Amino acid sequence: MKALILAGGKGTRLRPLTYTMAKQLIPVANRPILHYVVREILDAGITDIGVIISPETGESVKAALNTVFGGRADFTFILQEEPAGLAHAVKTARPFLKDEPFLMFLGDNLIQGGVRQVVAALAGGSPAAAILLKEVADPRPFGVAVLDEQGQVLRLVEKPKEPPSSLALVGVYAFSPAVHGAIDRIKPSWRGELEITDAIQELLHLGHRVDARILEGWWLDTGKKDDIIEANRIVLDEYTERRVEGEIDAETAISGRVTVGRGSRIIRSTVRGPAAIGSGCLIEDSFVGPFTAIGGGVVMRAVSIEHSVVLEGCFLDGVGHVEDSLIGAKARVKRSGGTRRTLRFFIGDDCEITI
Ligand code: TTP
Repeated sequence: MKALILAGGKGTRLRPLTYTMAKQLIPVANRPILHYVVREILDAGITDIGVIISPETGESVKAALNTVFGGRADFTFILQEEPAGLAHAVKTARPFLKDEPFLMFLGDNLIQGGVRQVVAALAGGSPAAAILLKEVADPRPFGVAVLDEQGQVLRLVEKPKEPPSSLALVGVYAFSPAVHGAIDRIKPSWRGELEITDAIQELLHLGHRVDARILEGWWLDTGKKDDIIEANRIVLDEYTERRVEGEIDAETAISGRVTVGRGSRIIRSTVRGPAAIGSGCLIEDSFVGPFTAIGGGVVMRAVSIEHSVVLEGCFLDGVGHVEDSLIGAKARVKRSGGTRRTLRFFIGDDCEITI
């Protein structure tokens, strides 16, 4: 079986960050989202992986995958000139996919477990497709599935105003080659995209069987700023171990599960886990609170920060209390006088802000 990761798209909802980086490379707990995706695929025993890339961010996606997974996965990068929809991405990947079954994984989705059961569902009962669903409180922003008693899909509705069930489509699917025929028959939707939900609906229309599995673990669709901060919180909470490789002075207190990378120095500060601090950072007279990930090479002085994601190479000086923030790489934020109060940021790469 092959895998197809969708790592193209425009990421408009994550601008300004996505003007300068691929949204799939935004770090969660200091690791690009895409690395979690590849790990899940490798864990399911699949190494032949096609990756859809866009002209804008393709090279950075290639580099981020080849450097980390080079020996373990066999990547084929497939350029999609325009983000014309998830089903269009499958169409573009047809020469790579040939007539083999494949696992499709959206490159901005994080899930806990679940991939193996979708792969097994396709292999075991030979349906035309197997989809992964998650019970959610508000399914209106998602594709929603209606199942029969045997767990087979009766129909799918995209972003319904009145959802017929609470089962949202997670961005992980297993397809037999029958999906290509269905994609050839569908037309672009009102938003001009070839939709994968329409292709699955077309499979049903043609009389094929589509099976579903329910995901018990979490599912995080990292489309917007708050989704990234929430994903960071959950992943830090779940996986952080205490591992301090940097230098901590005698006036610094570190409590709970905290990782501090090599070459980092923490001086007269408090770090409370779960939190991750990358390598080569300098943190002075600061408080780093729970659910915060600080990228490599960050310099921080007299800052109190929690529940935030700071990308590599940032400089934060005297900013006061920061929370619920996503700060792009190499941004510089400093205070020149004024009162201290809580600040909330969504700052793109290379910005400079003085308060
Ligand atoms: P989306 O989140 O639906 O689209 P997007 O990334 O363009 O973001 P936005 O809506 O904010 O503009 O995409 C889900 C995943 O699929 C994401 O990893 C990007 C990828 N994708 C492609 O590779 N090709 C495409 O044509 C589209 C629409 C998405």
